[in-house]
Amino acid sequence: MSLNVELLESSFLQLKDRETEFSTCFYTHLWADYPAVKPLFANSNMTEQQKKLFQSLVLIVDSLRKPDVLIAALKGLGTRHVRYGVLPEHYPMVGSTLVKSFSLCLQEAWTPNIERAWIEAYAAVTQLMLEGVDYPAEILNPYAHQDSE
Ligand code: HEM
Repeated sequence: MSLNVELLESSFLQLKDRETEFSTCFYTHLWADYPAVKPLFANSNMTEQQKKLFQSLVLIVDSLRKPDVLIAALKGLGTRHVRYGVLPEHYPMVGSTLVKSFSLCLQEAWTPNIERAWIEAYAAVTQLMLEGVDYPAEILNPYAHQDSE
């Protein structure tokens, strides 16, 4: 994984004490832009969920220089997400909402280089979360059974 660690760390540092603002912004835009994912959180305590999402971002950024820790944590997180009903196609939705929320919070401090660094990092995070996750074929393609008939 070759990521721009300095840029990821320095940009996230500017958000570290803006947890509530960032998390509220993130979920507001996720619901607005991708209403299809809202039912996945139907039984969630959103105050707790906002904290957990932000803490996982803190953990990811803090672990960028410790790939073993990062890889193990992300694989576990990816496995748990299958149980939450999350599909591979949902990952780009969360990724674009993360980038949008970062840019809205950081405004002029959000530069094209920072954006590139986060897009690359999110792609790596998604890959690790999905690695080793065995989605049943009928979840990935509900029509597979009918096709084969
Ligand atoms: C970078 C990608 C992501 C990160 C870092 C992340 C982080 C987290 C964390 C830390 C939790 C708390 C539970 C746990 O640790 O297992 C969680 C739960 C959850 N996430 Fe994610 N997530 C990501 C991607 C997604 C995507 C793509 C979706 C789909 C919309 C999603 C939907 C959910 C749902 C439905 C829960 C369960 C909430 C509950 O406990 O009620 N996440 N996520």
